[in-house]
Amino acid sequence: MSPTATELLARMPGQKPHWLLGWRGNLIQFNQDPLGNVEKLRQRYGNIFLFVHGGNPPLNSTLPNVHQTVFALGPEYNQRVLSDTNLFYNSILLGTEGTEFWRLGRGLLNMNGEKHRQQRRLMMPAFQKSRIDGYVPLMVETTRQMLQRWQVGERRDLKAEMRDLTMRIASRAFFGLDVDPQEGGLATEIDEWLRLSGTLGVMFFRYRIPFTPFHRFLQASKKLEEKLQAMIAAKRAAGAEQGDVLSQLIHTCDEDGSRMSEDELIGQANLLFLAGHETTANALTWTLFLLSQHPRIMARLYDELTGTLHGADPTANDLPKLTYLDHVIKESMRLLPPVPFLARTAMAHTTLGPYEIPERTEVALSPYVTHHMPEIWPNAKHFTPERWESCDPTAYEYLPFGAGSRMCIGAGFATVEIKVVLSMILQAFRLELAPNSRVDRYVNITLSAKHGLPMILHSQDRSFEKNNTSWRGNLREMVEFPAV
Ligand code: HEM
Repeated sequence: MSPTATELLARMPGQKPHWLLGWRGNLIQFNQDPLGNVEKLRQRYGNIFLFVHGGNPPLNSTLPNVHQTVFALGPEYNQRVLSDTNLFYNSILLGTEGTEFWRLGRGLLNMNGEKHRQQRRLMMPAFQKSRIDGYVPLMVETTRQMLQRWQVGERRDLKAEMRDLTMRIASRAFFGLDVDPQEGGLATEIDEWLRLSGTLGVMFFRYRIPFTPFHRFLQASKKLEEKLQAMIAAKRAAGAEQGDVLSQLIHTCDEDGSRMSEDELIGQANLLFLAGHETTANALTWTLFLLSQHPRIMARLYDELTGTLHGADPTANDLPKLTYLDHVIKESMRLLPPVPFLARTAMAHTTLGPYEIPERTEVALSPYVTHHMPEIWPNAKHFTPERWESCDPTAYEYLPFGAGSRMCIGAGFATVEIKVVLSMILQAFRLELAPNSRVDRYVNITLSAKHGLPMILHSQDRSFEKNNTSWRGNLREMVEFPAV
């Protein structure tokens, strides 16, 4: 007789259920610090282990009947799982089929198989290099507006500033909307929708009963859907393509002449916006933080920027000349990848390393853990942009944008945006971490700074060695900083 799913998984190492609360106890504990905990579990059980024996609701997957999570860490498992998209499905942020919630979540991130391939084909042209280069003036202008508000001597939360900036750039580039996120509008509503979707009342009590959080969430979803519909209708009525991503998606068609349906446009627009701004904001925030703590690296970068741009705003042609900037960004996303975990669901019984796993097992991977493996990355905890002059990792050893045929469709857009924004900020201001700050990690799909990132804005005097503020926080477990 072949073993049952439970018997198969029992062969794996993994945590015992919490003595009192069962899997709930393991989950509560894990969620307090997912990155710290995954490292501890890996030290105890190795690179592949069951999250908790006896079953748990999936950490990420929204597919039905998924009851177990296996952590599989390192490049071999990344390759095995990410390269087989027919076997390992992606599904996050998806409500019950047919609801407003479901329609708003129907973007690339939630599609699989032929549907995913077809939609991705339709979307790729909007992200080719010439299109992205066309957004550089808009990125420059939006960053300039932010810098004009900044004053020497001020203290600003860079996390909030980067969030506002990337939201604004995303609204303009993806939808052609020029609105201040502080004043509300579509961008803020999409963000609020995401926040509500993760609240306990919405996640665990999904019945359409008036006055419940889920009912309010569905009403908010309906309103958001109507707004997106109205925007799509206005773009259709305008006739010609208007240059923003959504307008391109409306007009694009497959070889057989098929176009995206209304529902597909709504889901893609919503998820593009969500996938596109918070990730980029975190990459920018972490890079600015790392630079503020590494005066020698900051000085070398500043010299490259001023030597190439001479204080001017960058153009698309300037960006490839900024090699050290490229290395700084790569190294920052290695040490602190904005998306530290990825997850898939095995759609059939299969093997993973030495173990068999049953159909509908969730598999969690970690770019963060992979990027910190000392056997791949010598001095893994050091921020060393120079390593990129010679290192050449495989796609599964370095994967801040994921890997395989589901790799981030916005990677090119994000990289250009980060280069534009950093080259402008760093030529204009010297940033110093505010005294006595606490810098802790926070993981909720993305990796962000838990208490924000307060910085003092100084005029750019190249005196980076003056940056020697003392600070506390568990970022010190993830990065080894030079002594000040
Ligand atoms: C630094 C910024 C960014 C980072 C670190 C990042 C990271 C990622 C990662 C790790 C994935 C793979 C997820 C998985 O395999 O489960 C992904 C997918 C995706 N990203 Fe990004 N992303 C960034 C910016 C953007 C931007 C600017 C956009 C929009 C223009 C975008 C849109 C998407 C979409 C639509 C997918 C799904 C692709 C698919 O499933 O085919 N991302 N991103």
